[in-house]
Amino acid sequence: SSSKLLIKGGTVVNAHHQQIADVYVEDGIIVAVQPNIKVPDDVTLLDATGKYVMPGGIDPHTHLAMEFMGTETIDDYFSGQAAALAGGTTMHIDFVIPVNGSLVAGFEAYEKKAKKSCMDYGFHMAITKWDESVSREMEIMVKEKGINSFKFFMAYKGSLMINDELLLQGFERCKSLGALAMVHAENGDAVFEGQKRMIELGITGPEGHALSRPAVLEGEATARAIRLAKFVNTPLYVVHVMSIDAMEEIAKARKSGQKVIGEPVVSGLVLNDSGLWDPEFITAAKYVMSPPIREAGHDKALQAALSTGVLQLVGTDHCVFNSTQKAFGIDDFRKIPNGVNGIEERMHLVWDTMVESGQISVTDYVRITSTECARIFNIYPRKGAILAGSDADIIIFNPNSSFEISASSHHSRTDTNIYEGRKGKGKVEVTIVGGRVVWKDDELKVVPGCGKYIEMPPLSYLFNGIDKADAKYRSSLKAPVKRFKSTS
Ligand code: URP
Ligand code: ZN
Ligand code: ZN
Repeated sequence: SSSKLLIKGGTVVNAHHQQIADVYVEDGIIVAVQPNIKVPDDVTLLDATGKYVMPGGIDPHTHLAMEFMGTETIDDYFSGQAAALAGGTTMHIDFVIPVNGSLVAGFEAYEKKAKKSCMDYGFHMAITKWDESVSREMEIMVKEKGINSFKFFMAYKGSLMINDELLLQGFERCKSLGALAMVHAENGDAVFEGQKRMIELGITGPEGHALSRPAVLEGEATARAIRLAKFVNTPLYVVHVMSIDAMEEIAKARKSGQKVIGEPVVSGLVLNDSGLWDPEFITAAKYVMSPPIREAGHDKALQAALSTGVLQLVGTDHCVFNSTQKAFGIDDFRKIPNGVNGIEERMHLVWDTMVESGQISVTDYVRITSTECARIFNIYPRKGAILAGSDADIIIFNPNSSFEISASSHHSRTDTNIYEGRKGKGKVEVTIVGGRVVWKDDELKVVPGCGKYIEMPPLSYLFNGIDKADAKYRSSLKAPVKRFKSTS
């Protein structure tokens, strides 16, 4: 049976254009976007007069049902996605964690976890160690499994961290596969020393986490990753940019023409750590994430960088643990599972912080919350646009209404919310995913199992120009070879 949906009278916003128009949807696909569409029979009609009709949010960075630091994040593919939909996000890209070092086994495990999905999703692959078999399996991921991005860890010494030699090999491998190298950029060796220093000083509480890994270590690793990517001549994506130090390295590289993408996350954009390290353990531990939430000033600078295009898209790093799990670190901050919420709050907080404050336009908002992510990961315009032929993942946003955040009303399974009590202007009133209305009148009606896996093809567009630069580099190597020729 065919399902029909007509959204009347709203302002349809794409990343480069907005117009008053109706949006007509059939069987989950947008069929027409134009003014005054005649109302067909048996149609679900939604009135969007005075409201924005925008592409659903795409969160480029989440961790649902992830095993991490001796436990598992408590939002799984159902609860995490339900929360996302209630907040206007209709797709996310989650990080697959290899199983016993196998990418294929990791992929299969995440396929199972994702069976209860109620919205579309894609995968990045985390690289948790490096050897020949991992390198081989990367090809399977790219050519057969629809993964086009791999995250390398410069931090988490002793578990996920790899050294520069292996990082370079990983970058080379990404390049040869047309995949995007991503980095968690903190100097893991220095963090390890910083942690020892804190423990020696008797600082064992959550504030020790932040003090042990200051912004300078994020700046150092970001600079190093950028230079190593330049040496390999491959594009680089820096995840969870939390500091001025990291942002300025990205700005410099981009100005020089290097292909570097910077992803701030909501917590880094809207929070700073003044007053965060409450003596009450749980009150403070809920904010522990890596890289940490920084001192005042970093937040505003990251906002500015987002508004000028130095940073390109906003993620959440949604990685949620409840108070019981956070309490693993009650005697030692090194055991606090790292991660904060955000998947449900992102669309509202970015609107309030960036649009309502006058820093960016509504079209820019669509770009940084949806379109840019779809473009980077090569799924545009199926996702990230309201165009005929695109998937009907749509939100109706009322700029004159308001939102309020609380753990007592959020849809995540966690018992705390790092944005507790926060209010602001603007509200996602309706979420449509795959042509179905799933969020309306503050009521969520999600259907487990209807989310689809979105394969992301290799990033040929991003490698345009890189082949040419490589050819030029190779030909530049010829002359010196002659000079040192043996004369015997
Ligand atoms: O604290 C964080 N960010 N937890 C999730 C894992 C990661 O490094 O992204
Ligand atoms: Zn990370
Ligand atoms: Zn993350």
